[in-house]
Amino acid sequence: MQALYNIAKISAMIIKKLFLPVSLFFLPLPAFMQTKTIDQKVDSVLKLMTLDEKIGQMNQYNGDWESTGPITKDGDKQNQVRKGMLGSMLNVTGVDHTRTLQEMAMQSRLKIPLLFGQDIIHGYRTIFPVPLAEASSWDTAAIRLSARIAATEAAAAGVHWTFAPMVDIARDPRWGRVMEGAGEDPFLGSLIAAARVKGFQGKGLGNIDALMACAKHFAAYGAAIGGRDYNSVDMSERTLWEIYLPPFKAAVDAGAATLMNSFNDLNGIPASGNKYLQRDILKGKWNFKGFIVSDWGSIGEMIQHGFVKDNYEAALAAVTAGSDMDMESRSYINNLSKLVKEGKVKMQLIDEAVKRILRKKFELGLFNDPFKFCNKEREQQQWNNPENLKAEKIIAEKSIVLLKNDHLPGQQNHLLPLSKQIKTIALIGPFVKGIRDNLGFWSYSWPDDSVRIVSVWRGIENKVGSNTKLLYAKGCEIDDSSLVGFAEAMETARQADVVIMSMGEASDMSGEAKSRSNIHLPGVQEELIRGIQATGKPVIVMISAGRPLIFNWTADNVPAILYTWWLGTEAGDAIADVLFGDYNPSAKLPISFPRTEGQIPIYYNHYKTGRPATSDSDRFYRSAYIDLSIYPKFPFGYGLSYTNFNYSDIQLSHSTLHANEVIRATVTVSNTGNFDGEETVQLYIQDLVGSVVRPVKELKGFQKVFLKKGESRQITFTIGIDKLKFYNAGLKYLAEPGDFKIYIGGNSRDVKETGFTLK
Ligand code: BGC
Repeated sequence: MQALYNIAKISAMIIKKLFLPVSLFFLPLPAFMQTKTIDQKVDSVLKLMTLDEKIGQMNQYNGDWESTGPITKDGDKQNQVRKGMLGSMLNVTGVDHTRTLQEMAMQSRLKIPLLFGQDIIHGYRTIFPVPLAEASSWDTAAIRLSARIAATEAAAAGVHWTFAPMVDIARDPRWGRVMEGAGEDPFLGSLIAAARVKGFQGKGLGNIDALMACAKHFAAYGAAIGGRDYNSVDMSERTLWEIYLPPFKAAVDAGAATLMNSFNDLNGIPASGNKYLQRDILKGKWNFKGFIVSDWGSIGEMIQHGFVKDNYEAALAAVTAGSDMDMESRSYINNLSKLVKEGKVKMQLIDEAVKRILRKKFELGLFNDPFKFCNKEREQQQWNNPENLKAEKIIAEKSIVLLKNDHLPGQQNHLLPLSKQIKTIALIGPFVKGIRDNLGFWSYSWPDDSVRIVSVWRGIENKVGSNTKLLYAKGCEIDDSSLVGFAEAMETARQADVVIMSMGEASDMSGEAKSRSNIHLPGVQEELIRGIQATGKPVIVMISAGRPLIFNWTADNVPAILYTWWLGTEAGDAIADVLFGDYNPSAKLPISFPRTEGQIPIYYNHYKTGRPATSDSDRFYRSAYIDLSIYPKFPFGYGLSYTNFNYSDIQLSHSTLHANEVIRATVTVSNTGNFDGEETVQLYIQDLVGSVVRPVKELKGFQKVFLKKGESRQITFTIGIDKLKFYNAGLKYLAEPGDFKIYIGGNSRDVKETGFTLK
């Protein structure tokens, strides 16, 4: 794969130069077609199509000007569009540009409109926090809104289809693509998957601000062995069904128009040629009515997998397995016709795939008006929509995780939030004045980035008054071995009352093809933190990243730490709100933070073993490392607030549960600190004895509650039999009678517990 994976996007202005406008007029559907159902319309179009035109619909190419994968060089793409040899293009955006290409499609015999797909992963014009950061909010309404805004902006720029949400569960932070998902948990991941699909698709396809969603990568891509991107996946059926498939099911139930398959093989069968996944599960058991697009070149990559000999066999395997559209491998366009003529692929398989694709084009309204998404005025209006930036800032605030906030020696207050009256603040670190690194991977570059993206420096400058002096020293680069800047940074720190350090990984260090074996804070950053801490000044460390990083010395020695992920366009303002207490942090980690790479994979919902380690002093001849704590550095669900929340013991409405009943579990949560704040109250359940081994605990519910200081509230979870079900040895989804434990708390580790019996 090539360096072009860094998808810094070029602006619509450049795009315009590459294609000359073509003046053709689109002819709307004849009146008799307008009264038919979509399926009837699809059938009418299908009847008119030649085999080549059908195969054309199953073919997708990248535009020629930017890429998210290895483009096949082809000077003839525009002619192929004119001949109806393409159903879709990706990485083509902007009203002018999409119009130009759509006009070419309107020169084709049947004038079937093109679909324009794009990776709108966390925003288009306004960049939102990376998906893993947003997942830390545990706020599905906010996440839905972020997807809604992204869709509105992108649809106004001619895009029809986003290759999002990525709903892969990820238990390995070495995998660079953890940043694109919702973390390690299937329950949280499923709620977020549904929220994102609903956000992208809005009030439904056909609305002018709705994008087709594409849940990806089907399936189990997040379990690539060793966290190495594009690697194989070897997984039990139970883990597949219990952990990796639920977010896909949730996306399908939420109405996802499309799914994307994946680069990996699953237990030896590449996903693109995997009939079990695509036909049996997705189109069969789940009755999915949309279409499946391959991942970039993944149909052709079955040759490298050694699963097929050539593109001819690849096309045969993929179409048989249910892949409807071929992204960029050209296996379909070059081989399907021959395969049909030779009788190896039945026309019915082709028709089925084409119908699925055409149906979506009708649902989007493109047959009525292929230029429906090409409106200059709307594009302009969404280009600078201040409301979108406001929403971005709020979602960014909700995504910031407070990992630590100690008292300073001899002081009553915690270090954070800071007073706005501080005389001198030193801002130190390679991220303080960073611009693009606030956005993270899968984000677009626009010409006005340097003005529009709020750096940490600018955010803090906007916040403090003229009485506060801000000092700056970079200290070191993001990933470098030079200590040259240390002395200046330490001198700057000595002149300040408080030091804020902005550290982390660059925006191209997590993302596709960005797996890392070393996920420590890069370069000499942690040494710089040590140096600054040694000045004796109060130090706050902020870490920007797309994955959990390792920073043990910092975690053990620095009094205050904020995990700021990659927060998007308004990063600096959101950070300043949190630092100075205008927003009280409420986020909770959606993924466990390891102590060292050797502890990976580490996740909270692991199975019980025969020799469980119960604490760090009880880990010998137990399932543990002799040289490492049994605990992650920060557990799943963890995140502090400027206030404190106290949990009462759990009260149960009954101690036994019958199949058609529910139990209510109630705790009283009290805000006992000095600030108003929001807590995410988490419910975990454990099945104590099962016909197959069960996890030590599983998230089964959560509620977000805002409490004024001094306020208490009763929080009740209703537990029915559905929350107790699992896949037994025969893969039947059921609940077994017996004893269960309930845990409720503010993270997966610090919980109150009680139990009940299922009769
Ligand atoms: C990625 C997909 C992405 C596609 C198109 C692939 O390399 O795996 O997630 O949607 O490229 O950009």
